[in-house]
Amino acid sequence: MPSAGMPPKPHVTIIPNGLATDNRLLEGHVALVTGAGRGIGRAIAQMLARQGCHLALVARNVDELEATRACCAAAGVSALALPLDLAETQRLPTVVEQCMTHFGQLNVLVNNAGWHQFASALEADLAVWDRLIDVNLRAAMHLTRLALPAIVDGVTRGRRGAVIFISSLGGKFSAPTNAGYAAAKHALAGFSGSVFEDVRDAGVKVCAIYPGWVNTRLLADWLKPEEAIQPEDVAEAVRFVLASSPTVCPTEIVLHTQSSRAGRLFA
Ligand SMILES: NC(=O)c1ccc[n+]([C@@H]2O[C@H](COP(=O)([O-])OP(=O)(O)OC[C@H]3O[C@@H](n4cnc5c(N)ncnc54)[C@H](OP(=O)(O)O)[C@@H]3O)[C@@H](O)[C@H]2O)c1
Repeated sequence: MPSAGMPPKPHVTIIPNGLATDNRLLEGHVALVTGAGRGIGRAIAQMLARQGCHLALVARNVDELEATRACCAAAGVSALALPLDLAETQRLPTVVEQCMTHFGQLNVLVNNAGWHQFASALEADLAVWDRLIDVNLRAAMHLTRLALPAIVDGVTRGRRGAVIFISSLGGKFSAPTNAGYAAAKHALAGFSGSVFEDVRDAGVKVCAIYPGWVNTRLLADWLKPEEAIQPEDVAEAVRFVLASSPTVCPTEIVLHTQSSRAGRLFA
């Protein structure tokens, strides 16, 4: 009991590796993060682990996934690596099933995985356009549909629930040689908005985040890493959504680079 005039002490949780941390937002929750092997996905996974959230992590590269899994486990949470090519949509039900079998719940889905390839619409390879749609859009749609019942169920049990889409400024603005990626990311906006309408009264937060250039492997070679948004900046936007009060939902967050030079979509 704090004495009169003294501010109350913050709640402190002791986590299994012996570290003390501030009251953790997602203690005991479970999140599924796609594209968690590196870049923005790894930063989001690490942020969630620091908030006490157990994790199911999806990407293709097993070594990168294991590195993310290990640094999340070091924050005292349980992390499960699920190597998978998200373009194989027929395998996506097993991702949610494995998550439910292992953790018994799923509360947060972060549809982050994506890739990009420049090509003029005059000469683009149709197979590349199909793959851009499969990885950036179709996988996110399928996983959302598969995960939502568990997420809604968690909210009815007093958990936080959210679906986050990592889109791009390429999903807001048109630019040359970007048609396939732009099609997928623009479509995510419509999908995300409609999903929000379907679950807003159930208390599930749905948000699309639109970053400009981020310092990851996808960064354009004409930019310096320090000119770009950092992966941790995007993770902080995700944390903001998850921490928002039950009476509000940030449905869209646009992240521009501070630098105007880096603010151009293309050189
Ligand atoms: N970097 C930017 O400037 C920027 C800007 C705006 C938006 N974004 C978006 O941010 C998201 C993350 O990108 P990033 O910059 O962090 O890129 P990144 O460093 O290349 O990481 C992409 C992640 O997605 C995974 N991934 C890609 N294709 C996959 C597939 N077919 N199946 C499973 N996993 C797959 C990758 O793992 P594997 O290769 O091992 O599968 C990797 O873990 C993407 O949606 C991207 O469009 C990026």
